[in-house]
Amino acid sequence: MIRHVVKFPHAALKTVAKPVEKVTPQILELLDDMLETMYADKGCGLAANQINLLSRMIVMDCSEKHDSPVKLINPEIVWHSEEQIIVKEGCLSFPGACVEVQRHKSVRVKYLDTTGKTQEKTFEAVWAICAQHEIDHINGITFLDYLSKQEQRQILERMKNKV
Ligand code: NI
Repeated sequence: MIRHVVKFPHAALKTVAKPVEKVTPQILELLDDMLETMYADKGCGLAANQINLLSRMIVMDCSEKHDSPVKLINPEIVWHSEEQIIVKEGCLSFPGACVEVQRHKSVRVKYLDTTGKTQEKTFEAVWAICAQHEIDHINGITFLDYLSKQEQRQILERMKNKV
């Protein structure tokens, strides 16, 4: 089911999400909904906060063919490269906005998979950027938080003109 994606300044985007205690059929259904919503909106990542669900879950697909969905429950960055890269990022909660953020080039993420097992996976380049962006979301952080007050104003002005 496609869910409504909340837009900034919705309170859910500023809230720290709670850990998922048990991977239930309901959780799996929510993850499917999140992926469906993300694909429908042509995004490459979505965090539960963005559908006003305050649980620590993210989905991603940064592949060219959009055929490599990833579902991460309680994701946590356990290692990151020293090397950083800057890529222009979009966000489904900030329609029309495009922001450059400095991020780690690779990150290793610990998470629960859909069977409830603890896993670790290393993400590189665009996948690593996306993972950092989405994990920020479940911590109540958006890319705006990396910008100066003046840059934030510019982005929000531009968003207003889009609506
Ligand atoms: Ni986002």
